[in-house]
Amino acid sequence: MNILIAEDDAITLRRLQHFLEKWDHHVITAVNGADALEKFLDQDVELVITDWMMPEMDGMELVRRIRSGGKDKPYVYTILLTSRGEKEDVVKGLSEVGVDDYVVKPFEPDELRARLSVGERTVRLERTLREYGKGLEKIVRMQTRLIRKTQEETILRLLTALESRDEETGGHVRRIGLFSAHLANEAGWTREEVEDIRLAAPMHDIGKIGVPDAILQKEGPLTADEFEVIKSHTNIGGQILGDSEFPMLQMAHEIALYHHERWNGGGYPEDRSGEDIPIAARIVALVDVYDALSQDRVYRKACPLEEVLENMRKSRGSHFDPEYFDLFLDSIPDFRRIAAENP
Ligand SMILES: [Fe+2]
Ligand SMILES: [Fe+2]
Repeated sequence: MNILIAEDDAITLRRLQHFLEKWDHHVITAVNGADALEKFLDQDVELVITDWMMPEMDGMELVRRIRSGGKDKPYVYTILLTSRGEKEDVVKGLSEVGVDDYVVKPFEPDELRARLSVGERTVRLERTLREYGKGLEKIVRMQTRLIRKTQEETILRLLTALESRDEETGGHVRRIGLFSAHLANEAGWTREEVEDIRLAAPMHDIGKIGVPDAILQKEGPLTADEFEVIKSHTNIGGQILGDSEFPMLQMAHEIALYHHERWNGGGYPEDRSGEDIPIAARIVALVDVYDALSQDRVYRKACPLEEVLENMRKSRGSHFDPEYFDLFLDSIPDFRRIAAENP
C-alpha cells in the first residue's frame, strides 16, 4: 500500500518507516500536518498514519481536510497515533472527524500490522466497488446507445415503406431528423430531447400511409376535396403515434399532428398559432420547407440557396416561428454540411 506518515517526532517516524518498509509498503513521510496534506494532494495515498499533536496542523485537522476531498476520490483509510490518556479525544476523532482507527504510542509492531491489514482490506474493497460501479455505468451507457440505434433503424426501415409512394425520400426524412436535432441543440435542449427529436421528426408524414395513391401521386393540381384528403395525413399520423408513454413517441405525435400549423394561424389541422403549436412541430415545419425547396424533387429541380432563403424570409413570423427562424439562418452552413453528408 501507499502509506503516508505524518509524525513530528523523528524517532517514532523512523521506527514506523522501518516496519512499514519491512512489510513491503511504500512509505511517504511528513513532519507535520501541513507538510502531509501537501504530499497527500499530489500522490496516490491509500492509507494515512498521523500523529495527533503536531505543529502547523494537527492530526485531527489533517484527517478533516482529507475527508473533505469529496466523493469522487477513492477512500483513504486513516489511523491516529495517540499517547495513553487521550481516550476522550480518540472518541471525538473516531466519531466526528472520521478517523478509522487508532494506535497507542509506543506502538506494538504486531498490533500495528494487524490494524494495517484491516485498513488494506477496506481500501481494496472500496476501490474494487468503485471500479465495478464505473463498469456498470459504462454498460448502461452502451445499452442506451444500442436501444437508440435499434429504434432509429426500425423507424427508418418502416419509413422506407412509405417512400415508394411519395416524392419524399429516405434522404429527406433522415435530414429532417438531423436538421431538427441541430436546431434543438442550438436552442439549448437537453441531450435526451435532442436525440428524441432526431428520431421523431422523420415520422412527420407517416400519416400519408392513409392517403390513397390516386391522390398522393396525382399529377397536376388537386381539387379542394382531394386537398382535404391530403391534409388528413396530419390527423392520421397523430392517431398512429398517439397515446404513447414514451417521450420520443409523444414528440413524434405532436410533430405528425402539427407540422402544418402556421405561426400566425391559418394552418391545419387545428388552425393553432404561436406557442400553442408544440415547439418540435414548429421546428419541423421550418426544416421541412427548407429541405423540400433546397433538394431536387421528381417534378422540379432544387432552387438555389439564395432563392430558398429569400422565399422563406417572407414567411418569418407568419408561417415560421421567428425565433427559430433566426436560429435556422445562423445554422445554414451546418445545414449545408449535413445535406452534403446525407444525400
Ligand atoms: Fe406533411
Ligand atoms: Fe417532409
